[in-house]
This record gives sequence, structure tokens and C-alpha cells, in this order.
Amino acid sequence: MSSWQPIAKTSDVPVGQGRTFSADGKLIALFNVDGEFRAINDLCPHMGASLSEGWVDEGAVTCPWHAWRFCLKNGSWLDAPKSKLSVETYAVRVEGEDVLIDVESGGEAE
Ligand code: FES
Repeated sequence: MSSWQPIAKTSDVPVGQGRTFSADGKLIALFNVDGEFRAINDLCPHMGASLSEGWVDEGAVTCPWHAWRFCLKNGSWLDAPKSKLSVETYAVRVEGEDVLIDVESGGEAE
């Protein structure tokens, strides 16, 4: 089952940055990685910082509070690859100027 919702315009998120949007009662961090959009749960699983305010580099975001790093593709915690800890990721697609996410697709990395 899928539930696609427009959450932003492509121009809302500059390349190399993230912004927070809400969808289905959740805060979603949307990132523009060299023109490709990625969506994850905005709340850092450590202490709840807004991940959209983090540093984006090499397909990952670094949390602005304590620098934990998460993969923007699968949500995995890059500082401890064997850990089960991760952030939810959402399927993203672009239609014209709209960025849509599938709010039902939120899942954690394995
Ligand atoms: S709140 Fe994100 S690393 Fe601490």
C-alpha cells in the first residue's frame, strides 16, 4: 500500500541542505543531495535534534547536536554499522516542481 503526498517544492530545499516538513502528523526531513531528494524522520533517535539542520556530506547527514551520522538512503547509523539503530526513511519522487513522499513507506534500516 502506498500513500503519496506532496510535501514541498523542489525549490524549497537548496542543494546540499535539508528542511523540515510535516506529513501525516510526522516531521520529515527532506534533503537535496546533488539534485536527488531523500526523506527521513526529522527526529534524531539519540536526543531528538532536528536532523534537517545537520551537515550533509557524501549521502549522509551529521546530527547538529552530537554529530551522529545517518545514511540518507537507508537510514542506517553510520557510526556503528552493526547497530540496529536507524532513522525511518521514506520513498521520494518528483513530479514537475513537486516533491512527493510515500508516508506509508517509512521504515528503518535492517
Ligand atoms: S541528538 Fe542527535 S546525536 Fe545527539
